[in-house]
Amino acid sequence: MAAGLHGKMALVSGAADGLGAAIAARLAADGARVAVLDRSAEAIALSAARPDMAGVHFEQVDLSDAAGIAAALSRLDQAGFRFDILVNNAGGSLHTPRAFVEETDEDWARVMDLNVTAAVRLIRAIVPGMAERGYGRIINLGSKAGRYGSLFTGANYVAAKGAVQSMTLQLAQEFGPRGITCNAVCPGAILTPRVERLLSERQTPEERAAVRNAIPVRRHGRVEDVAAAVAFFASEESGFITGQLLDVNGGQGMAS
Ligand SMILES: NC(=O)c1ccc[n+]([C@@H]2O[C@H](COP(=O)([O-])OP(=O)(O)OC[C@H]3O[C@@H](n4cnc5c(N)ncnc54)[C@H](O)[C@@H]3O)[C@@H](O)[C@H]2O)c1
Repeated sequence: MAAGLHGKMALVSGAADGLGAAIAARLAADGARVAVLDRSAEAIALSAARPDMAGVHFEQVDLSDAAGIAAALSRLDQAGFRFDILVNNAGGSLHTPRAFVEETDEDWARVMDLNVTAAVRLIRAIVPGMAERGYGRIINLGSKAGRYGSLFTGANYVAAKGAVQSMTLQLAQEFGPRGITCNAVCPGAILTPRVERLLSERQTPEERAAVRNAIPVRRHGRVEDVAAAVAFFASEESGFITGQLLDVNGGQGMAS
């Protein structure tokens, strides 16, 4: 599935670390000119020094700040970016409690804000340019949690990813006539150092072994597994595929 993204420009949110960084590096390797939005100066500095991130443009912004997003997008516009590809990667459970009754209003608001509202704001800002040019690829990060429930995160995260996934279907309907596809990649547990820590806090070694033995391919995911799926949806050749939720979970969750 070589994507061949030469001449394309891509924006990836929350991509100085974790899955997003692998996605940004993969799109850049496929030839796209890539811009990353991330709030962490430290993660940006580490990421910018990676050889596979050479040429990637970084903007430091907190995606919960609407004015900050508008200012960052304006700077990218001035730098000549006209985005063909938008990857709404920023998200997560923010390590809020798993137990429903322990999740506060603030926990719900923060998780909804990063997973759903940040994506809404970026799509609203980027889609008019895509529509004008008659071409776009939007890829949202859903989750196995949002498809089938979660073994270690709470209802707020599951509901937020469910919202992202449902929104994907509706935007595919709405934007299809303008040449813009909208799909979601839904990973199972991907062993980034952060997820590794969360799993060891919330599951015993025996529980972890039982989970792994229930995954048909008998391993957890790697960031490259997710980046490859995103690269396919980002490619021109995926143009007849829209409104799809692609499970990238080693077969841990399947739907017919
Ligand atoms: N890691 C997994 O196992 C997994 C599984 C399923 C889905 N996902 C989804 O994939 C996406 C990426 O997950 P991850 O584990 O790589 O994320 P992560 O928590 O490792 O964060 C990645 C980056 O997002 C940035 N970020 C966080 N909050 C931000 C904010 N408010 N503004 C700007 N940047 C911010 C961080 O600085 C970091 O560089 C998320 O949407 C997540 O829900 C991850």
